[in-house]
Amino acid sequence: RAFFKPIQSAAPPSPTKRHSKISVIGAGNVGMAIAQTILTQDLVDELVLVDANPDKLRGEMLDLQHAAAFLPRTKIIASVDYAVTAGSDLCIITAGARQIAGESRLNLLHRNVALFRNIIPKLAHYSRDSILLIVSNPVDVLTYISWKLSGFPSNRVIGSGTNLDSSRFRFLIADHLDVNAQDVQAYIVGEHGDSSVALWSSISVGGVPVLSFLEKQQIPYEKQTLENIHKEVIESAYEVISLKGYTSWAIGYSVASLARSLLRDQRKIHPVSVLSKGLYGIDGGEVFLSLPAQLGRGGVLGVTNVHLTDEEAQRLRDSAKTILEVQSQLGL
Ligand code: NAD
Ligand code: LAC
Repeated sequence: RAFFKPIQSAAPPSPTKRHSKISVIGAGNVGMAIAQTILTQDLVDELVLVDANPDKLRGEMLDLQHAAAFLPRTKIIASVDYAVTAGSDLCIITAGARQIAGESRLNLLHRNVALFRNIIPKLAHYSRDSILLIVSNPVDVLTYISWKLSGFPSNRVIGSGTNLDSSRFRFLIADHLDVNAQDVQAYIVGEHGDSSVALWSSISVGGVPVLSFLEKQQIPYEKQTLENIHKEVIESAYEVISLKGYTSWAIGYSVASLARSLLRDQRKIHPVSVLSKGLYGIDGGEVFLSLPAQLGRGGVLGVTNVHLTDEEAQRLRDSAKTILEVQSQLGL
């Protein structure tokens, strides 16, 4: 006996609505924060989790499934077998080693490259048309590796980059000026890490350019105060890791916001890691680093032509050099 009585006039399911699917690789602190934020935002029809540890994976899957009565309807599945990712629109990779207290992101390179050599070809095999969004560290180099290993066009291989650092920056500026962080437009660009660059010259609050406002009002500001805010951004992750062992909630929101812009074709601008060779005088090799980029269903739609001072452009090129030096150790 059918559960529902048939209704004759009921329309058949709309053939135009596409089933959307996100796969999250790595069900650790970061993968699960991303998964749970995506679920609360009703972004996809199907969410897939993959991890190397089957017990942890099943536990996380069940725990999320048990929230079904409180969440938008989403099919949640998990497996250690990458076949489960087939036909993904977006694959988010968070698998791998993380820093211990005081350790730099770049130090994770060799461990995580070895994992990516195993993971990326499988994802590319099962989801030829997917967008790859890399989160594991060091994110800029791993995004480059993923581009090489997948053979995907560069607009479909993106690193979460400084989307997170820029949120930390906006939080600190907002706190300093006692305004809402969402009204602060400010970018950190370059490496997601110690050589990142703060774009002070283009910061605005509610449409008012901050530095020229302070100058016009003849309000003195110390360059050191600005440097200290940027220093605090760089030290943020180290502080959180030394206190709680890992970072998770902010990266969860950061990546969910990227997933929304990509899958919902929002055409929003986010500072993310993109192929940057030839931009702002960056030369010396193929390098991924963060620049403000427009994101939509096709992946990276373009990079904003933001104005940089000579000093900012030089710092950006230095950041590119740092990443390229690390990349050169890989002998690719
Ligand atoms: P974690 O140790 O909690 O989780 C890592 C997970 O990866 C584990 O569950 C592990 O079983 C899994 N894993 C290992 N090898 C795998 C494989 N071959 N296939 C599938 N899964 C595998 O670590 P975490 O705190 O979730 O951090 C994950 C990564 O994210 C780290 O590299 C960390 O540095 C990075 N991270 C990046 C950002 C960013 O802004 N880009 C922010 C936070 C953390
Ligand atoms: C972050 C990680 C550790 O939270 O890259 O910045």
